[in-house]
Amino acid sequence: MWGGRFAGGPAAVMREINASIPFDKRLWQQDIAGSRAHVAMLGAQGILSLDDAATIDAGLARIHDEFAANGVPVDMALEDIHMTVESRLAELIGPVAGRLHTARSRNDQVATDFRLWVRDAIDTVDAGLAAFQAVLLDRAEEHADTVMPGFTHLQVAQPVTLGHHLMAYVEMIARDRSRFADARVRMNRSPLGSAALAGTGFPVDRHATAAALGFDGPTANSLDSVSDRDFALDYLAAASSCALHLSRLAEEVIIWASQPYGFVSLSDAWSTGSSIMPQKRNPDAAELVRGHTGRIIGCFTALMITMKGLPLAYSKDMQDDKPPLFEAHDLLALSIAAMTGMMESISFRPDRMRAAAASGYSTATDLADWLVRERNVPFREAHHIVGSAVKAAEAHGCDLADLPLAVAQAIDTRLDAGALAALTVEASVASRTSHGGTAPVRVREAIAAARAALAGGGNAS
Ligand code: ARG
Repeated sequence: MWGGRFAGGPAAVMREINASIPFDKRLWQQDIAGSRAHVAMLGAQGILSLDDAATIDAGLARIHDEFAANGVPVDMALEDIHMTVESRLAELIGPVAGRLHTARSRNDQVATDFRLWVRDAIDTVDAGLAAFQAVLLDRAEEHADTVMPGFTHLQVAQPVTLGHHLMAYVEMIARDRSRFADARVRMNRSPLGSAALAGTGFPVDRHATAAALGFDGPTANSLDSVSDRDFALDYLAAASSCALHLSRLAEEVIIWASQPYGFVSLSDAWSTGSSIMPQKRNPDAAELVRGHTGRIIGCFTALMITMKGLPLAYSKDMQDDKPPLFEAHDLLALSIAAMTGMMESISFRPDRMRAAAASGYSTATDLADWLVRERNVPFREAHHIVGSAVKAAEAHGCDLADLPLAVAQAIDTRLDAGALAALTVEASVASRTSHGGTAPVRVREAIAAARAALAGGGNAS
């Protein structure tokens, strides 16, 4: 394609290091769509004759069908997807194929193809995350009243509801979806027509190609257009945050499934056995989601480092933008599907959760709040009184609610039978009715609002 000034061909290793076709063949649909938009514009602007434009377009349509049926042929000598398409076009329609590359360069071509690919990737991820939110909402509704321990420092802190806990992840996923949506808006500008770096002297209509490819308009600066990979970094940043959230839920599932917790059991379809220990039932998918998160963040880091020292405009380093993006996307899509399937079929064990919620004096704050509310005790003083009550309960080996009344009264006469009766985990969660609190009534409202937003095609938050 560019051999005019060369007497010899490239060394074998040169060919190998230079070629991107083994991975950028994944851009084939975007490459053909970009070329069809370009050639239609060349015809409409009179840069090519309408006949030539029609011949080229028909050839591109045929290549689309061939690749759809048989896959993309990988010939290292053809270097990349752009050359692969163009060389097949020449085989099909002859020398007129050589007119397609008028007023463009592979630099604006690859920038356009890759943006289109990442845009589609965002749509795929968004659909997956919406489906994941729907599953979390169903499970949260089922367990709006199920009491479990809430933790800080992984120590039992205060009782919460499982519905509330699951809704926390609905919120995280909502923010992830909005990060992807922001990235999509920002990237939706067409670099096509920026040519190699300086623009072109041909009377191209960049607004027309942008519109044909579903972009909101053309990019503003040709140098920036061919050297910008922010859109890929935006995707990878959003993917990293999203994977991190999936990983935190995966980690909780792993903990909850361990025997000392026993809060959940995974269905057969979502657990694996051990080759030596017949009793084992392992949460491998959750562990792999947690593991894949490291790889996804690694892909983000890889591309940041690739880009950080590059002068304007295009450098071949930028060809290395695609493998980390593709890898991260594949891992993320798989992780979303795995977490969705796992959460859909996981069995929660309310008995175990309730027992754990009642342990560790989890309603101590409720007793302090009771003293403040019912006996007008300043909170700091109430905190001190309840601290003594916990110490006494520990010495008696009992829960706060079962503390002998005489012992409670000896600590503070304002601790009466009514106070101790208010210490159930159910009363505790029911009392937390502040906006965003864990009370079942609030959780049901949050679920209803999220459901309505999701049903309207929006984000569940
Ligand atoms: N395969 C190349 C890439 O992915 C296409 C652009 C090549 N441009 C160039 N000036 N050599 O970056």
